[in-house]
Amino acid sequence: MKRIGVLTSGGDSPGMNACIRAVVRSAISSGYEVYGIKRGYEGLIDGDIEKLVTSSVADIIHRGGTILQTARSERFMTEDGLNKAIESLKKCEIDKLVVIGGDGSLRGAKKLAEMGISVVGLPGTIDNDLAYTDMTIGFDTAVNTALHAIGNIRDTSSSHGRITIIEVMGRACGDIALYAGLAGGAETILVPEVDTDVDEMCQKLITGMHRGKKHSLIVRAEGVKISSEDLAKLIYEKTGLETKVVVLGYIQRGGSPTAIDRILASRMGIHAVELLNEENVHKAVGIRGDDIFSMDIDEALNANKSNHVDFMKYCDILC
Ligand code: F6P
Repeated sequence: MKRIGVLTSGGDSPGMNACIRAVVRSAISSGYEVYGIKRGYEGLIDGDIEKLVTSSVADIIHRGGTILQTARSERFMTEDGLNKAIESLKKCEIDKLVVIGGDGSLRGAKKLAEMGISVVGLPGTIDNDLAYTDMTIGFDTAVNTALHAIGNIRDTSSSHGRITIIEVMGRACGDIALYAGLAGGAETILVPEVDTDVDEMCQKLITGMHRGKKHSLIVRAEGVKISSEDLAKLIYEKTGLETKVVVLGYIQRGGSPTAIDRILASRMGIHAVELLNEENVHKAVGIRGDDIFSMDIDEALNANKSNHVDFMKYCDILC
């Protein structure tokens, strides 16, 4: 019987489970046996692989995290690790693989493709930092989680007349900050893609407070050069306004996926299996507008990212 493997790798993201479910169930209905590889490339190297059936993925579409677990694998970066991973696949007679993860995971998938494995990479990361696709699985949920937190912080910020810096994740990408910041009515959004002008920002904060603003929210992406703590100190020194820092951290990675993420994950999972019906596949699946598409994994990894830095200007106009 034809065999497909599936793994999740890198940081977990909400919707990974919905995606595993889609891969497993659509593969089974296409006549495949499906194997779940635990702990990403780490589990692949160790041969931690188990057969998945329809019921293995029951009751998971709404769950955050990943039932397959995940890891960031240093060993897979080595020649020895890669060879062991290939051996594990051969031992289980798996020559088709679906990899769900972020940039590093898709780079790993590319390595396996170069070794003759048919691979489809699906973008699973909250960061939305994969340039070739409009959206990654988990991004929408993370934005909504951050948005909920911003709403709560707004209440306290307003009650105490404070400035609050809310630090969100995203690695080198400012998308979570841009979307959650605009939707949350932030006064300022800071992203790694645009240099921060602290003096200009402080002037704006002072003007806002003189206008009678009760609070100011600054949404800062974690990849911005100046740290949240240093920024808070600088703002206090320059404005005399009390400034607090809230780092949202891992709450953004967990939680039940939104409808958008569940649907995206389901569509992409089904598409991956359709692609693997062909031989010698090395593709990454993405979404453009409302269309699911695929492209060569190498090209996908070399695409240039553009993002909505214009959202920063919208905040200036709207706050
Ligand atoms: O890639 C997802 C992400 O949550 C980033 O936003 C963050 O920088 C990083 O992972 C944190 O990784 P770790 O789980 O290794 O702490």
